[in-house]
Amino acid sequence: MINNALKFTKNGEVKVMAKLIETGDDFSRINFAVSDTGIGIPEDKQETIFESFSQGSIEINRKYGGTGLGLTIVKK
Ligand SMILES: Nc1ncnc2c1ncn2[C@@H]1O[C@H](COP(=O)(O)OP(=O)(O)OP(=O)(O)O)[C@@H](O)[C@H]1O
Ligand SMILES: [Mg+2]
Repeated sequence: MINNALKFTKNGEVKVMAKLIETGDDFSRINFAVSDTGIGIPEDKQETIFESFSQGSIEINRKYGGTGLGLTIVKK
């Protein structure tokens, strides 16, 4: 996800936040969030981009490259 944020943000900023939610004797629960000021993801694509080989559009793929597998792997 960090890699995507850097990839789709030519100018601007990428933020990576880590928040400690809970600590137990032998575990910690951490919430991670990534935000960027890049090209953004249209609302109607936000569900499908997690599917294999799904990319924002053919134009985006031509310009930025990639296989459309990154987010599928992240989700799994
Ligand atoms: N931070 C982001 N900003 C804008 N669009 C994004 C961002 N992250 C993902 N996307 C969109 O979601 C699509 C799917 O992302 P995914 O990481 O699965 O594939 P990819 O980056 O195109 O290729 P790969 O990760 O396999 O090299 C991207 O092609 C892009 O259209
Ligand atoms: Mg990717």
